Amino acid sequence: MVHSALLLVSAAYLFCRSQRVQPIIVDAGVYLAGRNQFFQATEKRDTPDSFKFFTGSPWVILNRRFVEYCIFGWENLPRTLLMYLTNVMLPLEGYFHSVACNSDFRNFTVNNDLRYMIWDNPPQMEPHFLNVTHYDELVGTGVPFARKFKENEPLLDKIDDQVLRRWHQRPVPGAWCTGRRRWFSDPCSQWSNVNIVRPGPQAEKFRTYINQIMEESKSGNNSCKQ
Ligand SMILES: *[C@@H]1O[C@H](CO)[C@@H](O)[C@H](O)[C@H]1NC(C)=O
Ligand SMILES: *[C@@H]1O[C@H](CO)[C@@H](O)[C@H](O)[C@H]1NC(C)=O
Ligand SMILES: *[C@@H]1O[C@H](CO)[C@@H](O)[C@H](O)[C@H]1NC(C)=O
Repeated sequence: MVHSALLLVSAAYLFCRSQRVQPIIVDAGVYLAGRNQFFQATEKRDTPDSFKFFTGSPWVILNRRFVEYCIFGWENLPRTLLMYLTNVMLPLEGYFHSVACNSDFRNFTVNNDLRYMIWDNPPQMEPHFLNVTHYDELVGTGVPFARKFKENEPLLDKIDDQVLRRWHQRPVPGAWCTGRRRWFSDPCSQWSNVNIVRPGPQAEKFRTYINQIMEESKSGNNSCKQ
């Protein structure tokens, strides 16, 4: 990753909200087969004292050290939260945020939703749909996420083609691809060390963007708000 010193960058507004997790969703995986409504239990449960819930955007960029902490959990926190969030309506909007804000990682979060959006003035309920006319500005910002897109939006194909340099329906090529590049063969059909990361021009823009929001966050508020 570009920033090995930055432990976590979260696409998130990290606010503590317990009403989001008190409702219990009954076995969502089973119940949801063929349905699109959540079945919410009438009982609510108490919010535990040992940790606080934080919510934010479900789109996150996590570094390896933080992910290892979530998986290997050298404390009980990541596992306890995982179990607690099993029956919550939108666990992706809370899990990583809550782990980060309740652990020693809390000082390494940046409160920014990292998204490119275009709003009306005054803002309506939803931002504009993005199209190819927004390409230059969107790519120029270095922002890693954006919305909203219509299905099969050509702008997404343009990003795949010009930023990510993907072949049609293929993974994003990188230094890990060791096959020879020929018109008939995908260089990524052979690969070696997947841990090699060599930032391309867009990753450099992303680095500049991250440095800027980190600079701004130093003078601003603490990320894990309660
Ligand atoms: C986080 O920052 C607070 C306030 O700046 C400080 O008191 C605390 O020791 C820091 N915690 C860690 C784990 O660095
Ligand atoms: C692209 O979106 C803008 C609104 O942000 C709209 O004014 C424009 O007409 C759209 N262009 C195309 C080609 O759809
Ligand atoms: C800090 O938070 C307060 C209240 O949420 C807000 O009014 C203020 O603009 C924030 N400051 C910065 C620098 O983000």
